[in-house]
Amino acid sequence: MKRIAVMTSGGDAPGMNAAIRAVVRTGLEHGLDVFGIRQAYTGLLNGDFEQLTSVEVSGILQRGGTILQTARNEEFKTEAGQMKGLRRLNEHKIDALIVIGGNGSLTGALELERKGIPVVGIPGSIDNDIDKTDMSIGVDSALNIILDGLDRLRDTATSHQRAFLVETMGRNCGYLALMGGILGGAEIVVTPERPATEEQIAKALEDAYVRGKSHAVAVIAEGAPTKVTKLMDYLSSHKSVGFEVRLTILGHIQRGGSPTAFDRLLATRMGVNAVKFLMEGKRGVMTAMQGRKIEAVPIEDAIREIRPISESYFEMQRFLSR
Ligand code: F6P
Repeated sequence: MKRIAVMTSGGDAPGMNAAIRAVVRTGLEHGLDVFGIRQAYTGLLNGDFEQLTSVEVSGILQRGGTILQTARNEEFKTEAGQMKGLRRLNEHKIDALIVIGGNGSLTGALELERKGIPVVGIPGSIDNDIDKTDMSIGVDSALNIILDGLDRLRDTATSHQRAFLVETMGRNCGYLALMGGILGGAEIVVTPERPATEEQIAKALEDAYVRGKSHAVAVIAEGAPTKVTKLMDYLSSHKSVGFEVRLTILGHIQRGGSPTAFDRLLATRMGVNAVKFLMEGKRGVMTAMQGRKIEAVPIEDAIREIRPISESYFEMQRFLSR
């Protein structure tokens, strides 16, 4: 193995740059040439490769986003697109590929592996929906932004005696909403795994009012079946909960900014280990944080299902919100 390539794919996540840096410098340490592929699978299909030296990855550890940029690509989902991607890798004499991204990106990586190119995946997604790893890169940073948002909203909510509906990211997975709700002291958390009706959400806010609280917060994951704008309409026109209600959608703010220490460390360890796994001849695996260790787990196992959230967290949220 002489030449490897690295790409970031899907939604960007704070810490991706730290992972790129670790891959490049670990590769150089082992005498490899390391190439960056710009804009994920789009760049792969367009042959957008650039050799990365130590200097190119200097000063990026603390930067949010990804210096390689990212994309979501439809063509690569097809057999023809994947064959074209393989051809581009061969044209650039790439011996192995490291893909940093979420479930969709890792699914694409596995297709390349099956077509003959050695691949190692690194889980990068703020959603924490990738299975077999305790955490993915970017989750901790996003969670800290959510908590900062919730703390700020509680200040203004208390001053006006209002209730806030707060929507977090999380297309298929309620991890961010649930952890945000537990650590930010929400009255109710609504997720794809644990939905709630408009009536149930209204009841939770109303209970807080009746108990004499000066504010109330409902955290709702974007992927939950109850949509916040519809809920807002319901609360404005059909049901009074005592409090005046306001809505805040945290949106893409959750994905930007400097990675936390936790994410920098996780990304660095995963980047170093991704190269190490390739050097050891491991193929089609993903770096996974399991307890204190970074293990190699089959990508196949990591993408089979959305990472489940432990039941105990839902239970904890329920009684701590009383
Ligand atoms: O997968 C990460 C994520 O931030 C999801 O939480 C969200 O649904 C999605 O990406 C948003 O994607 P886009 O940036 O393409 O709008």
